[in-house]
Amino acid sequence: MRKIVGGNWKMNGTPRGTEAFMAAMGTAGPAGLRADVVVFPPFTLIPMASLKAPAGVEIGGQDLFWEPKGAFTGEISAAMLLDAGATWFLAGHSERRHVLGETDAVVRRKLDAGLAAGLKGIFCVGELLGEREAGRTEEVVRGQIEGGLSGLGASPRDLVIAYEPVWAIGTGMTATPAEAGRMHTLIRGWVEGIAGGAFASSLRIQYGGSVSPSNAGELMSMPSVDGALVGGASLEPGSFMAIVGSAG
Ligand code: 13P
Repeated sequence: MRKIVGGNWKMNGTPRGTEAFMAAMGTAGPAGLRADVVVFPPFTLIPMASLKAPAGVEIGGQDLFWEPKGAFTGEISAAMLLDAGATWFLAGHSERRHVLGETDAVVRRKLDAGLAAGLKGIFCVGELLGEREAGRTEEVVRGQIEGGLSGLGASPRDLVIAYEPVWAIGTGMTATPAEAGRMHTLIRGWVEGIAGGAFASSLRIQYGGSVSPSNAGELMSMPSVDGALVGGASLEPGSFMAIVGSAG
């Protein structure tokens, strides 16, 4: 399976920086991108990013709201993301779940709405440090997967799962390749139970959490790790391109 590398800029970025980032990505040329690449800038930079993105780089929204339009102050719909040039969205990122209080039910409404509108989605799951220390990792992640995927009816081409253990995000404490590989294999098994073997075997599962140029190659060399979702190291084109380069 071709790997997929996402760059989640979170609440960072400027117009000038976006232009420079995309120009730098363009120097790789389409053949130089050894993976599918999706960049998730903040909403305000999506039009600029999609205008300047070189061939082979797609743009996504970090979030969306499930209603198509109306009196929802501060929210952005799937149709608005498409209009702005995005083709992807994130649902259930840990910062949405744990800083903004999104529940599995909320994440599911977002997944349904984004996929129904024709966007492709990255569905993020992962356990908190306390849950890991209490030995609850499998129970927590399995619950998130069931909440997101039961009865979803999506094509595996349009969906990616990102396993991002929350204790690894922004901390420098990456999961070891063996730990990531083990969780990805478990996740694929749970997905198979929900959506069937054909779906599970063609679904890509990314790892996220302190991915850097120095650990990306080893993580993505695990057969069950189909790419990476990168935060901090995606803000600078050199480190992001190095991670993309280690995917193939
Ligand atoms: P870091 O790569 O900064 O740990 O962030 C990971 C992440 O949350 C990507 O969505």
